[in-house]
Amino acid sequence: MKVRGNVAVKERFYRLSLRLNGKGALAFSQVIPGQFVEVSLCETALPSVENIPDDLLDSSQRQIILRRPFSFCDVEVTSQADVRIEILYCVLGPATLRMTTLAEGDRLSIIGPLGNGFSVPDGKKLALLVAGGMGAPPLQHLAGYLKANFPKMRVVVFAGAKSVADLPFSVQSSDKNGHGISEFTRFGIESYIATDDGSAGFQGVVTECADRWIKRNRPNAAETIIYSCGPEQMLAEVAKLAAKHNIDCQVSMERMMACGIGVCQSCAVETRATGQTETVYKLCCKDGPIFNGKDLVFE
Ligand SMILES: Cc1cc2nc3c(=O)[nH]c(=O)nc-3n(C[C@H](O)[C@H](O)[C@H](O)COP(=O)(O)OP(=O)(O)OC[C@H]3O[C@@H](n4cnc5c(N)ncnc54)[C@H](O)[C@@H]3O)c2cc1C
Ligand code: FES
Repeated sequence: MKVRGNVAVKERFYRLSLRLNGKGALAFSQVIPGQFVEVSLCETALPSVENIPDDLLDSSQRQIILRRPFSFCDVEVTSQADVRIEILYCVLGPATLRMTTLAEGDRLSIIGPLGNGFSVPDGKKLALLVAGGMGAPPLQHLAGYLKANFPKMRVVVFAGAKSVADLPFSVQSSDKNGHGISEFTRFGIESYIATDDGSAGFQGVVTECADRWIKRNRPNAAETIIYSCGPEQMLAEVAKLAAKHNIDCQVSMERMMACGIGVCQSCAVETRATGQTETVYKLCCKDGPIFNGKDLVFE
């Protein structure tokens, strides 16, 4: 597949756009939000030393042997033979650092789409999307997907981060009160921001922001569903919030993934089916990454 573009959107956040055609495009034309790809970056060059952040100077020298998992923030299907996918990524270590040097026309090896993706149970009329930090990309994809395929469904987004600089979205200047993330307003979707330091939107954790919204709006629980992606501690709080309001909840789990296809067993997630005492380990890459919040055993 070919790189169409790779632009910095904020410090450490980039959007990588890829174009697929032929069989690759066919495979991705039916992609579901929450699915992911395994990207090979072993042959991708490092940036020049002056472009490597100080905290990554040592780890940047690590060899990249394993592929890395990434979900999509946007997918545009022009035809079954022409698909564009966009990956929103944060530079955290040697692989994502190398990703920053990809340029238009470069070729990249990816495997996917992998995993199960989010689903929409019958009868749902309201979707609450709760994103924490870098959990945002698949929820951006989901928002667009819901608007296109379930036009009558109301979608409300809550996005949280330590500070506005850590939010991988474009915050509209009128946002001080928590409204208007460009990536969602373009679909006509209501959005709220929560930051730990109060630099934009609600000051506090995103689950508290969502909880207040639910208490204020009192949606019909049976017609509502929460979708979430972010750090595991936040997902545990989201699962509690959903249980408290008796709302269905699907969360996207993250694990280190060596193979991404159910072979290496490195991505175990502990689950417990309703009414059972025994726990069962499932594979994040194959049985997930999307799990029912009720079934997860958080530490
Ligand atoms: C299903 C899935 C979808 C993902 N989608 C995205 C995405 O859309 N955008 C994005 O920026 N990142 C995403 N990630 C995370 C991404 O795979 C890692 O950030 C990347 O592999 C880091 O590689 P690296 O070599 O740059 O850093 P590394 O040196 O490998 O990691 C840097 C730091 O991040 C932690 N880390 C790395 N990978 C994971 C992981 N899978 N789970 C928990 N902690 C991890 C490491 O412990 C380390 O502290 C996703 C992960 C999964 C499992
Ligand atoms: S990553 Fe290998 S089994 Fe899941």
